[in-house]
Parts: sequence; C-alpha cells; structure tokens
Amino acid sequence: MAHQWRGVIEEYRDRLPIGADDPVVTLGEGGTPLVEAPVLGERTGARVWVKVEGANPTGSFKDRGMTMAISNVAATDTRMVVCASTGNTSASAAAYAVRAGLSCAVVLPAGKIAAGKLAQAIVHGATLVAVDGNFDDCLRIARDLAEAYPVALVNSVNPYRLQGQKTAAFEVVDALGDAPDIHVLPVGNAGNISAYWMGYNEYAGRTTASSVDDTATRLAPVATRVPQMWGVQAEGAAPFVKGAPVEHPETVATAIRIGNPASWDYAVAARDDSGGWIDSVTDAQILDAQALLAAEVGVFVEPASAASVAGLLQAAEHHKVPAGARIVCTVTGNGLKDTATALGHTSVEPEVIAPTLEAAVAALGL
Ligand code: F0G
Repeated sequence: MAHQWRGVIEEYRDRLPIGADDPVVTLGEGGTPLVEAPVLGERTGARVWVKVEGANPTGSFKDRGMTMAISNVAATDTRMVVCASTGNTSASAAAYAVRAGLSCAVVLPAGKIAAGKLAQAIVHGATLVAVDGNFDDCLRIARDLAEAYPVALVNSVNPYRLQGQKTAAFEVVDALGDAPDIHVLPVGNAGNISAYWMGYNEYAGRTTASSVDDTATRLAPVATRVPQMWGVQAEGAAPFVKGAPVEHPETVATAIRIGNPASWDYAVAARDDSGGWIDSVTDAQILDAQALLAAEVGVFVEPASAASVAGLLQAAEHHKVPAGARIVCTVTGNGLKDTATALGHTSVEPEVIAPTLEAAVAALGL
C-alpha cells in the first residue's frame, strides 16, 4: 500500500516537543520535493537541489511551524491566535486556525501583501488588520496584543514555530543520506535559517546555541556533519549585511521586506557557527533568478524564494562556490501567490482564435 505522508509532527514526533496525548493539528505539511537542478549545477560547478516548500498545503514553509504552534494553542484554553505577516504566515495561520476551530487575527502592512496571500487569509476567515507601517510595526503590535489580551502569538518568536520548521533540515538529510555541504536560503525575519541550523545540529547529534529545547539530543545521530548556512537578503532590506536594523526596508520580494528581524541572534549564530555568510542581492537579480527557476528548472516560486538562488548565482560569479559541492537551496513559497510580480504587472491576453485546427496551426506558426 502506498505510504501517505502524515505531516511533520507524526513523521518526526520523537524529535519534537509534543506529548503523546497532545492534540495534533495538521494539513499534511512537509514531505516536500527535493528537486535536483542541473541548470544551476552547470552555472555553479556544484550539485544543486531545490527544496520546494511551495508544495506545502498553504504554499509555503510556514506550515511546518504552524502545525506545531497551532497544535500547542489547541491544547490550551486560548481561542484566538494572532500574527504579524508579510503574507505567508497569515495564510498559514488562518488555515491551521480553521482546522483547530480557533479564530485568527492577522496584522499586515497595508498595500504590501501579494494578492494570493491576502486571498488566502480572507477565504480562511481571518480578521484582517491593515497597518500604515511595515512588517516590523506589525510584529510590535501583534506582540503587544498577545501580551495584554487572551490571544496567542504564532509568529516565529513562538518557539514551537522553529521546532516545526527544523523538520525541513531532517527531510534534506533523509533524502540525501547526509547533510549537504552548503544550505542557501532567503532571510527575512530570520526564523527559518535559525530553524534549519537547529535541525541540522540535532540530526548530527550536536547541541547548539539555537536549540530551544533538548528533546532530540538523546537520539542517535542521523547525519555525520552540518552544512555551511548561506543566507540571502534583498539589498533594500538587508539588516544582517548592514549589521544594524533597516528603518525603511524596501524590495520587490515583499515576503522578506523586513528591517528588524526577530531571530537576530539565532541567525548570527547559524551564520558564524556554520562558517557561512549572509549577503544581499538586488531586486533585479531576484527577478532574474525567479524567471530562471520557472523557465529552466520548472519550478515557479515567489520572488523572496528566488533570493536563495540569486545569492547562489552571485556567489558563483564571485568564485565562492567550491567545485563539486552539494548544495541545497530552499525555495520558500509558491509562485502562484504573486502572479502580478512574475508577469511584470502585464496582464495575460493570449490571442483569441476561431475554434478550428487551421486557426490553431496558424497561431502556432506550424
Ligand atoms: N520566503 C518567504 C516566501 C517568506 O514568506 C518568508 C517570511 C521568508 C522567505 C523569510 O523567512 O522570516 O524565517 O527569515 N515570511 C514571513 C511572513 C515574515 O510573514 O510570512 P524568515
């Protein structure tokens, strides 16, 4: 009988802080494809895979953390969750709240959320609060709300979120047989790079400064090593490159339009302890990488996701990619969430023809 993936909690229960009798709120997240991309291999002189996180139930990696965070809330008396978001967290929180019978409030930067993500929050019945400010303002408000009112915060400052997200590193090791040499991913609020680093360390039987609990440290190691962590930010929203918060972050990759990342210390530890780096790329490089992934790899990702690949290509141009290295790029979210940016804000108007073979042949130039 075919094996049905059971979601990250059931698949990795022994490495997650969840009790045998705790509720599990899942949409079957995780188990996403790790797709080799020979085109990227040729361009970098390495072996490159993309971890396609857009294949998660709500179309981004956030679902891995949300199954943990919402399951945890479901075990309490709290009936409402809140998050700040650049779009994907809100889409995921709204969907998982539906599964748990919770209500969901999302605090969003007005006018800066891709249409698909906004649609997700709306169809899942979340209450939207649009703020005349950026993500960092929204997170401050969401934190304050959770502190003063009976609502649970499900941003990645909630430690259960990173616990769930670390399972992506487990999946990479399970697929490749060991950790890759290098893992590249986009960095916004910096939760995901921290979660991967935690996951890789736990799977290699090492403890780490970023580990928020020690559930897995007693288990036998699965990996023999950990990768270098390479983080990529958008040039207009690159606080780690600048070494200080950015007051007015700006980028076409709205998902990572963040100036004051919450997981600052964890991300710096991931970068430094792994011997990696965090660099930035321009919006043009991001859009080029998005187009390359779509046209030559066959994977349609949103702009923020393409930042990882843009960063890898830039590193190759700067001769920073070791020959033959095994490299995984996380592509974090689905391209369908933001079709307007992918199409350069032009509408798709294919030529309309008569319903005949001849007309089709003529249109195709055959
Ligand atoms: N890629 C996508 C598609 C994202 O949505 C995010 C973050 C990131 C990368 C960066 O990950 O924050 O862990 O460093 N999106 C958050 C949100 C902020 O609200 O959906 P990070």
